[in-house]
Amino acid sequence: MNATAAKKHVLLLGASGFIGKAAYHLLKMNTGIELSILLRKPDADIFEGNIYYGDITNFDWQKLKHPPQVVIHLARISSKKWGRPGRLLAAWKGYFANKRLLRYISGNENFEKIIYVSGSLMYGNSSRPLDERSTLSPISFAREYIKAELPFIKMLQFQPAKICMLRVPWVVGRGSWLQAFFLNYIQQQQQVPQYGNGKHLMTFIALSDLARCIAALCSLPFNGVLHAVAEVQSTQVDFCRLLSSILSLPVVRLSLGHQEKAVQEAFTSDIPLVSSYNVLKPYIQCQTLRDILEKELFLLKHI
Ligand SMILES: NC(=O)c1ccc[n+]([C@@H]2O[C@H](COP(=O)([O-])OP(=O)(O)OC[C@H]3O[C@@H](n4cnc5c(N)ncnc54)[C@H](OP(=O)(O)O)[C@@H]3O)[C@@H](O)[C@H]2O)c1
Repeated sequence: MNATAAKKHVLLLGASGFIGKAAYHLLKMNTGIELSILLRKPDADIFEGNIYYGDITNFDWQKLKHPPQVVIHLARISSKKWGRPGRLLAAWKGYFANKRLLRYISGNENFEKIIYVSGSLMYGNSSRPLDERSTLSPISFAREYIKAELPFIKMLQFQPAKICMLRVPWVVGRGSWLQAFFLNYIQQQQQVPQYGNGKHLMTFIALSDLARCIAALCSLPFNGVLHAVAEVQSTQVDFCRLLSSILSLPVVRLSLGHQEKAVQEAFTSDIPLVSSYNVLKPYIQCQTLRDILEKELFLLKHI
């Protein structure tokens, strides 16, 4: 058997996204993996290797030279237009795209598993710790986006050996919610914004740690629901205070009144995500909020 034949064929969907880019760079360095990615737009500066172009709603999966053994799915179809109706439409598109993808991969005898990355908003507000056995009760953006996940939720029931549903909390890195709600404001106003009374509980993971977890899961024999989360919970107030002390900038309280309801819910709900498994512990290096922010601190120094 030559070296290429021994490699695991991994297909990464969503490589151009916030989490996808971080996962791509780690997977690319793994010599045991033959990585393929699907992009909607050419981005030759960042990516190399087995690149396919297309949209998950209609890409002809038979075009893949190597049927994947592992699929990492970070390509959530989202919508920034028309509020809830826009998200609902995007979620249904995702539902049909995901069903089509599952039909293709289930027909491939070498297929081992799909790792689908989802968020903790799927659990909703809770006064108790939420582990992998907790019931879903979607809030905020998850009220609509859960529709896209239904094929995977069904798979957890009927083909549990073939899926890892990775649920993750607020991911700290330069991009996504941290950029949109905090870093942009800090850059423009030189103040750290706090949304509403800030008393709600948040859980976190550093982007670099999450990427390590995703890469490790390609070979770890884990299936079912799994949480990738640092053992740290904080109120938004404390999160803002820490940012304020690191950046030596004052905190300013902003009203949530002019934000859409989904944002208000995200910034007022307690989501104490925990994990009952140790499987990802070796890959999560940042275990305090300060660790997490300092790990990503080079980002903050350049805001
Ligand atoms: N960010 C967080 O803090 C966070 C927290 C918890 C869970 N999550 C979950 O993690 C997953 C990824 O999140 P993210 O923040 O990385 O998202 P993101 O930055 O919005 O990236 C989404 C990726 O999916 C691709 N994509 C979207 N629609 C597509 C389509 N129709 N066909 C092919 N590719 C498509 C995008 O490609 P383009 O570049 O072409 O648009 C992009 O690469 C989501 O399911 C999200 O719910 C994220």
